[in-house]
Amino acid sequence: MEKELIILSVESSCDETSVAIIRGEKILSNIVLSQIDIHAKFGGVVPEVASRNHTKYILECFIKAIFEAGIKIEDLDYVAVTNGPGLVGSLLVGVSSALAFAWAHQLKVIGINHLLGHIFASTIASSIEYPAISLLVSGGHTDLIYLKDAFSYQVLGVTMDDAVGETYDKVARILNLGYPGGPIIDKLAALSSKPDAIKFPTPLSPKFHFSFSGLKSAVLRKYQEDIKNNIPIIKEDYAASFQDIVIKILVNKTKEALAEYHPKTLILAGGVSANRALRRAFTSEFTNLKLLIPEVSYCTDNAAMIAFCAKTMIEHHKVSKDLDYRLEIFSTNRFTDL
Ligand code: KG4
Ligand code: ZN
Repeated sequence: MEKELIILSVESSCDETSVAIIRGEKILSNIVLSQIDIHAKFGGVVPEVASRNHTKYILECFIKAIFEAGIKIEDLDYVAVTNGPGLVGSLLVGVSSALAFAWAHQLKVIGINHLLGHIFASTIASSIEYPAISLLVSGGHTDLIYLKDAFSYQVLGVTMDDAVGETYDKVARILNLGYPGGPIIDKLAALSSKPDAIKFPTPLSPKFHFSFSGLKSAVLRKYQEDIKNNIPIIKEDYAASFQDIVIKILVNKTKEALAEYHPKTLILAGGVSANRALRRAFTSEFTNLKLLIPEVSYCTDNAAMIAFCAKTMIEHHKVSKDLDYRLEIFSTNRFTDL
């Protein structure tokens, strides 16, 4: 029997410092130290503060991940690290630590694109049958992506302005709900007794592309008018009405893409895929093909998804055999250039 690959992975592209270890299909450890409480005071991620905290937490993550996995460092086969896209200072901490660790232990390093990491989080619990389409919804991205196979991607549509996660965060700021807005709006919306109380307009955008800034402005206008006219603000109804439109847009655009491309698998990925109403909508709408939605804890940023992406690249021989500790790599960044 072939030896199961043991991969240590590092993720630090935004405000989560994370190190994971997988053996074959099994996650042995996945340490995620979130800086959410630190950035909440500022109402969003402050890049310089994020980098400083990554430097503070990264060593602890390595130690905890190795300890929890119960492996010896000599057992490791590869190191994988997110090398983009993301905040450059934050990425630098993860990449430098991964390189230093790999150099010290003479391990091979694989650079992984963060977005592909999100998509391959779906392989933690299942496998992708190709061709596939992924709707990637995160703090910085709203992308519809066609995957011919594990290595050929075509970006069908992107957001023309704000990303969907960013819109959740900005709408939460308008309503003074706190940061990050996504999980708060998710919970508030579920408490609304009149989810269709407010009629927000559905923004128009060209085929497969998205636009959310008009919706965000509509929420702001309505909120300011209600305040001016002394109309009580029922935040639960605002949250539910806003979320309802967002989900309709995401479902409809995905339907259009499925009708044209007929994939075998649909993958919902990225931080916003943790949203309960969105998960429910996808589960009830898309029943005619394989639907993969990662478990909630693997939707937001974590290193386990980076290891699973690396595993696919290695298994398909997309990583050269004589790779050394220098960060060459299977350049997944071509994905972002599309
Ligand atoms: O993928 P992610 O962790 O980081 C990026 O790569 O951007 O996504 C973070 C985004 C944030 O905008 C956050 O508000 C949103 O995901 N998010 C959610 C939920 N959980 C996180 N949005 C809606 N509902 C949620 N439950
Ligand atoms: Zn992410």
